[in-house]
Amino acid sequence: MKSFSFFCLAAASCAFANDLEPRAANWTVGQTVATSSGPVSGHPATNDSEVSEYLGIPFGQAPIGDLRFAAPIAFSGTEPLSGTDFGFSCPVLAGASTLPTAAELAAANITAAGIEALGILSNTDAKYSEDCLYLNVWTKPQVGEVKKAVLVWIYGGGFTSGSSSIPAYNGANIADQEDVIVVSLNYRLNILGFPGNPNGTKNLGLLDQRLAVEWVRDNIENFGGDPTRITLFGQSAGGASVDAYSYAWASDPIAAGFISESGTIFSWGLPNSQATALKGWNAVAGILGCGNSSSDSSAILACMRQQTWIVILEAVPATSRTASILGGFGPTVDDTVIFSNYSERTPAKVPMLLGNNNYEGGLFRIEFALEGKIFPDFFWTEFNLQEFTCPCGLRANASVAAGNPTWRYRYFGVFPNMAVSSDAGTWHEAEVPIIFDTAPGAATADEVSIANYMRGAWAAFAKDPQKGLTNHGWPEYDTKKDTLIRLGYDNITGTNVINPYRYDADCVFVNVSSTNASNFHVLPDLGASVTPTATSSGSSASGTATGGNTSTTKKSAALGIKIDIGGWVGLGAVVVAYML
Ligand SMILES: *[C@@H]1O[C@H](CO)[C@@H](O)[C@H](O)[C@H]1NC(C)=O
Ligand SMILES: *[C@@H]1O[C@H](CO)[C@@H](O)[C@H](O)[C@H]1NC(C)=O
Ligand SMILES: *[C@@H]1O[C@H](CO)[C@@H](O)[C@H](O)[C@H]1NC(C)=O
Ligand SMILES: *[C@@H]1O[C@H](CO)[C@@H](O)[C@H](O)[C@H]1NC(C)=O
Ligand SMILES: *[C@@H]1O[C@H](CO)[C@@H](O)[C@H](O)[C@H]1NC(C)=O
Ligand SMILES: *[C@@H]1O[C@H](CO)[C@@H](O)[C@H](O)[C@H]1NC(C)=O
Ligand SMILES: *[C@@H]1O[C@H](CO)[C@@H](O)[C@H](O)[C@H]1NC(C)=O
Ligand SMILES: *[C@@H]1O[C@H](CO)[C@@H](O)[C@H](O)[C@H]1NC(C)=O
Ligand SMILES: *[C@@H]1O[C@H](CO)[C@@H](O)[C@H](O)[C@H]1NC(C)=O
Ligand SMILES: *[C@@H]1O[C@H](CO)[C@@H](O)[C@H](O)[C@H]1NC(C)=O
Ligand SMILES: *[C@@H]1O[C@H](CO)[C@@H](O)[C@H](O)[C@H]1NC(C)=O
Repeated sequence: MKSFSFFCLAAASCAFANDLEPRAANWTVGQTVATSSGPVSGHPATNDSEVSEYLGIPFGQAPIGDLRFAAPIAFSGTEPLSGTDFGFSCPVLAGASTLPTAAELAAANITAAGIEALGILSNTDAKYSEDCLYLNVWTKPQVGEVKKAVLVWIYGGGFTSGSSSIPAYNGANIADQEDVIVVSLNYRLNILGFPGNPNGTKNLGLLDQRLAVEWVRDNIENFGGDPTRITLFGQSAGGASVDAYSYAWASDPIAAGFISESGTIFSWGLPNSQATALKGWNAVAGILGCGNSSSDSSAILACMRQQTWIVILEAVPATSRTASILGGFGPTVDDTVIFSNYSERTPAKVPMLLGNNNYEGGLFRIEFALEGKIFPDFFWTEFNLQEFTCPCGLRANASVAAGNPTWRYRYFGVFPNMAVSSDAGTWHEAEVPIIFDTAPGAATADEVSIANYMRGAWAAFAKDPQKGLTNHGWPEYDTKKDTLIRLGYDNITGTNVINPYRYDADCVFVNVSSTNASNFHVLPDLGASVTPTATSSGSSASGTATGGNTSTTKKSAALGIKIDIGGWVGLGAVVVAYML
């Protein structure tokens, strides 16, 4: 740095010695940026005119022809890129062709505000193509840190739907408010992203994510970013993707921080076995006349590459929807990217922020109701535990065991413009528009305050994954102390900490490796007596962890509950075009 000061004595050399600072001071919104994909032009973001928005930058070659069902290959180019529109969304199964009727909406208790909120979480204007490996960048280099922390968003959707172009995932507001860069990426889905081909690369969708992160590492500096401070954040299947990444690239994570919202690698009975994936693959091949389990795998693959993606996806539901919560085509054990023994493995030495919402089932309750399936409250209570709370607790423990700085939250916000139904509580994905500041309609004062606080926390973590949240007043996770951070609890802005046993106590009743819900029954609330020993922000006082009522009342048989696991994925209601 001494030599740098010396050079700067001569003003002319100074610009050469460090071209970042003058560029930051002299940034033109939307200016063209050199990237390995080609020079990309941007424009002012719609509602944030100081934010430069670059949409639809290719990071992978179009995975078509011989690249279908193959690992992604980096895109490199020199042609100018317009950055005007989102790239194509990766193909998903078509939803139902009919909208729910008024009566169906009423039976599900969906509110008018709910339809709007679900609308911004749906990919209503999407254009689909297999040529879908694109990412987007939002940046405001003209102010703030010269090299900014980067938040990279990975969408959810059960590994079968989702897109970076979903309106709620627009990164402009975060970039405008938090002095960070936001990047969002697309990855392949369903059988196109997770084929069961026995003789080929698996988990292509996760490899797509990795390729995009490598692109960010190599290019983000030109947008004003700091490649040493990249944090991946994702929700649901996106949260599980972040987590899978933390194990798959443990020795070279690139990322400096991980945020998993409502999804981990321990969730929903992940991952699929090769046998399950192969069964699904052969079944689709059979439907398409491409062979069967006794055919040569190369011949099946060649034939599958001849089909249109629409025909392939249409062949999927009948064969694999009942295989598991995520369908037959999701993350599959390959011992390279996805493993069978996560509880024995060690994730990257990277700080982690993880958590879930207080009533994740609220969203699925609506989806099921739209299909005419109504379940009692105890069903959803146990569902929340098995699919969300307990997997999150397991992963938080693994993070602590690995010696990584760890923070765990539980979000409680219920606001009028986000109340999708009278019974939805703090539903699955309710925090996403809060974090992105994309909730529709009028936000209340409480909501604005809590949302700003949470967005600030996510950014504080990204700016300094090791210490940012400590400085934000958050205690590191410790199951023996009041360290579960309740966000939006009682409309408090700030943290409200409690011993995690309050919500984890009933985990003894569930099997997180299973998606079978037919044993759900009324549970006693073992954690009910746990109260916070302090409610102030940043407290790490010891909490109480007592309990022990293990008597349960089995009611499921009497109520004759039957779960159609196929209902988990893609129920197809157009208003709810996404899932996990
Ligand atoms: C800012 O950039 C413009 C256009 O690139 C250039 O003409 C101008 O000299 C620059 N100003 C400074 C102070 O560097
Ligand atoms: C811009 O703001 C308006 C009004 O809040 C909103 O309806 C619209 O979706 C926003 N557009 C984007 C791209 O954020
Ligand atoms: C809809 O509201 C009614 C009345 O509060 C309630 O009994 C029913 O369980 C709700 N339905 C769903 C799907 O939440
Ligand atoms: C597979 O297809 C071949 C050729 O059509 C047929 O002879 C064979 O019986 C089939 N095997 C199975 C297991 O279906
Ligand atoms: C896998 O593919 C290779 C190359 O296409 C082929 O030589 C080999 O026979 C295939 N293996 C199986 C088990 O199908
Ligand atoms: C976990 O599985 C991998 C293979 O995927 C194996 O190499 C490793 O030894 C296993 N770890 C433990 C602790 O069993
Ligand atoms: C996390 O670890 C603590 C301490 O060992 C244990 O009491 C708790 O049950 C674990 N949580 C889960 C969800 O497994
Ligand atoms: C929190 O505030 C919202 C309005 O922003 C209100 O509708 C809700 O009932 C409040 N929740 C609690 C627990 O007080
Ligand atoms: C949990 O569920 C998995 C998957 O169904 C099953 O293999 C395992 O035996 C179950 N564990 C227990 C303790 O029931
Ligand atoms: C789910 O569990 C029930 C009760 O234990 C069992 O009868 C049923 O076969 C299971 N279903 C599946 C798909 O494993
Ligand atoms: C245990 O829970 C059951 C069911 O909720 C309840 O009836 C019973 O009184 C509880 N027992 C104790 C000792 O708390």
